[in-house]
Amino acid sequence: MKAVVYEKYGSPEVLEFREIEKPTVMEDDVLVKIHAASMNPMDVHFRSGTPFMARLMTGLLKPKSKILGFDFAGKIESVGENVEQFKKDDDVFGLVPPERVDGGANAEYVCVSEKDIALKPVNMTYEQAAAVPVAAPMALQGLRDKGNIKPGQRVLINGASGGIGTFAVQIAKSFGVEVTGVCSTRNLELVKSIGADEVIDYTKEDFTKKDQSYNLIFDVVAKNSFSKCKNALTPEGIYVTTAYGPKLLLQKYWTSMTSSKKMIPMWGKRSKEDLIFLRDLIEAGKITSVIDRVYPLNEIAEAHRYVGKGHARGKVIITL
Ligand SMILES: NC(=O)c1ccc[n+]([C@@H]2O[C@H](COP(=O)([O-])OP(=O)(O)OC[C@H]3O[C@@H](n4cnc5c(N)ncnc54)[C@H](OP(=O)(O)O)[C@@H]3O)[C@@H](O)[C@H]2O)c1
Repeated sequence: MKAVVYEKYGSPEVLEFREIEKPTVMEDDVLVKIHAASMNPMDVHFRSGTPFMARLMTGLLKPKSKILGFDFAGKIESVGENVEQFKKDDDVFGLVPPERVDGGANAEYVCVSEKDIALKPVNMTYEQAAAVPVAAPMALQGLRDKGNIKPGQRVLINGASGGIGTFAVQIAKSFGVEVTGVCSTRNLELVKSIGADEVIDYTKEDFTKKDQSYNLIFDVVAKNSFSKCKNALTPEGIYVTTAYGPKLLLQKYWTSMTSSKKMIPMWGKRSKEDLIFLRDLIEAGKITSVIDRVYPLNEIAEAHRYVGKGHARGKVIITL
C-alpha cells in the first residue's frame, strides 16, 4: 500500500511517500481503507519531535510510530474475529490513538480498534468526516466536561477560526449559549458565519481588557493565560486551556484553593460516546466541518508546512 513514512524527527522533508506492506487485521481490530485523513498540530509536533518532553511518549531518539495521521474516514475492508459492532463495507470515521505505534492514517489502510471508530455521519463526505475525530471531541470535552457549559451563559472562544475553534463555536451554540469568537481580521466573517454572536479581532482589541465578563473562556489556541483572562471571568467563571503540563496543573490546584474562579488545563481523551454524540449533532444539522485546504497524500509535506504556521482556517484534509 502507499503510505507516508518517517524514520527520524525533523522538518517536513523527513516525510517519505513509499510503498509498504498492507497491515493484516488482528482479532480485535478492523482494517479500514482510508478515503481521507486530517491534519492536527499534533502531527507537526510528532514529526518534529518538539517540544522535547513529548518524546517521552513519541520515542526519545527516533519516532516509535513510523506513520502519522490521527483521524480518518473510510470504508471497512475486513474485521477481526472478535469484532461485533462493524462489518465489511461499513463507512466509518475515527481515530488512531497516539499510543498506537503500528501505523497512523497517512496511508491507504489502517488497523484500529472498534472502540475508536463510529459509523460515519450520513450527511458528510469522507473529507468532512475525517475533520471531526480529534478536533470536535476536544471542543466538546473542553466546553461540556471541563467548562460545565450551561444554556444562557456567555462563552468566549479564543482561537475560534482554527480546527478545534470552528467546532467549538458551533458546539457552544448547540448548548444554547451566547458565543463570542476571537480571531484575526480575515476570519471575522467566517466565525460569524458558523454562529458566533459577537467577534473580537485580536489584532485590534485585547478581550481581557474589555469591560465584559464571561462564564466560560475556552482558550483553544492557548495564546493567553489564566492570569490575563481572570478579570474577564464572572465571579464563578471557568477558564479552560488546551495547554497542558505540570506548571499548569499546579496553577489549577492553587486557583481552586484561593479563588471562586476555576482554571482547567485539558488533555483530550478517546471517547466513542463523544464521537456518537457529535455524529448526532452533525446529522441534526447543528454542526459541520469547516475545511480550509485539501492535499493529496503525496503532497503531505506541504500540509505540514501550512499547519505548522498556526493559521489554518478550520481543518486541513489529506485525501487518498
Ligand atoms: N491538550 C490536548 O489534548 C490537545 C489536543 C489537541 C490539540 N491541542 C492544542 O490545541 C491547539 C489548537 O489546535 P487546533 O487544531 O485548533 O489548531 P489550528 O487549527 O492550527 O489553529 C489555527 C488557528 O489559530 C488561530 N490563532 C493563531 N494565533 C492566534 C491568537 N493569538 N489568538 C487567537 N487565535 C489565534 C489562527 O487564526 P489566525 O490565522 O486568524 O491567527 C488559526 O485559525 C494547538 O496548540 C494544539 O496543539 C491540545
